[in-house]
Amino acid sequence: MRHTITVRVNGVEERHEVDANQTLLSFLRDTLNLTGAKQGCNEGECGSCMVLLDGKAVNGCLTLAAELDGHEVATIEGLGQAGALHPLQSAFLKHHAVQCGFCTPGVVMTSLALLQENPKPTELQLKTALAGNLCRCTGYRQILDAIQDAAKTMRAQSKRRTA
Ligand code: FES
Ligand code: FES
Repeated sequence: MRHTITVRVNGVEERHEVDANQTLLSFLRDTLNLTGAKQGCNEGECGSCMVLLDGKAVNGCLTLAAELDGHEVATIEGLGQAGALHPLQSAFLKHHAVQCGFCTPGVVMTSLALLQENPKPTELQLKTALAGNLCRCTGYRQILDAIQDAAKTMRAQSKRRTA
């Protein structure tokens, strides 16, 4: 069975036919050619497929594309551009929080969802939010430091905007 969906992805309206069993991750990677979100375990364990659905972090591998009709998806591709990186991207570079990079899009999108809801998270809140994101390379310390650094930058930016 096929469904027609209209969904905004990184601010762009997309209208497509999807199979009833196609996942959001497959829709992004195979239909839209947005390959930032990665397929790791494909069963909700590793977090490499994490993207935002209406601002909340979701596993792309556990969400059906047919459910997206009328909703908004944000992926790592919509976050920053070369020369105008998002504070999270800049901080990941500064703190060497990326090694192989496979987990990074998922970690960044999960962190973004957290910081949008809680701009000043404690270390524990950060670790809890990232509990579903596995990284085999970094040992997590650099990732946690990068997110706290980005949170500071984002708070300063938001203060300047409201001043
Ligand atoms: S690929 Fe979705 S959680 Fe691992
Ligand atoms: S940087 Fe390699 S899995 Fe995280």
